Amino acid sequence: MSTFDGLVAVVTGGASGIGAAIATRLHDDGAHVVVLDRDLPAGEPAPVPGLPDDVRGLRADVTDSEGVRAAVEQVVAAYGQIDILVNNAGIGAQGTVADNDDAEWARVLDVNVVGMARASRACLPHLRASEHAAIVNVSSIAATAGLPQRALYTASKGAVLALTRAMAADHVREGIRVNCVSPGTVDTPWIGRLLDAADDPGAERAALEARQPHERLVDPTEVAGAVAYLASPASTSTVGVSLAVDGGMHEL
Ligand code: NAI
Repeated sequence: MSTFDGLVAVVTGGASGIGAAIATRLHDDGAHVVVLDRDLPAGEPAPVPGLPDDVRGLRADVTDSEGVRAAVEQVVAAYGQIDILVNNAGIGAQGTVADNDDAEWARVLDVNVVGMARASRACLPHLRASEHAAIVNVSSIAATAGLPQRALYTASKGAVLALTRAMAADHVREGIRVNCVSPGTVDTPWIGRLLDAADDPGAERAALEARQPHERLVDPTEVAGAVAYLASPASTSTVGVSLAVDGGMHEL
């Protein structure tokens, strides 16, 4: 018997990078997995390129409350339940507090913070009915590391840490555990885009690797392993924590 046999997991932003690795891991551990992503075709749940055949995808943008609610109801219509929600969808922003205007602040917070609230709100009635309910939010080591040129992104991920604790307190007595992971720099298409835009991508990659004490980028599967742990019965007394997956960047 696998860890998540008979359980249904929803992963936002699951069509790429960390979300795709999480979807794959939860599937490999026995869950029915549906990814919600703005970068998928509209319509019925369908296979997602690059993910295991049994994983299904639905187009949903976490900035659209009604779209998220409708997608969650499609998941329940197809599978009858939701036991695990992974709030992973997120976007980046570069610059100091002087660089990003109000519209950019609103755009990023709408995805990275309010998007988590929207998906959680839509899933909570179904999670309350589960005996194995867990929410895992994806924060970032940026929330605590004080990285330069990331003011808005850092604020959004700091909000995710705070939101995780608040949600954990609100829902633990309903049998829903809420935790988050805080990855360091992870080798995903997002980082690929950043490197492609750099003057010297090789030097930039080397700098990112050197920033983490284990001197490499984190693999998406390592974040997926942490999420799987926090969603599993192995962590039933773990509530409201942030689990760093950063090669020691936060602690050392
Ligand atoms: P990625 O860009 O490779 O994948 C992000 C996915 O989210 C894409 O499939 C995209 O279509 C989807 N998405 C974006 N906005 C959305 C929206 N409004 N509604 C629905 N889906 C949306 O990014 P990556 O690297 O996999 O990042 C995933 C999460 O991990 C983000 O929350 C990010 O902040 C976080 N993270 C990433 C780190 C890294 O170094 N790559 C480090 C720490 C945290």
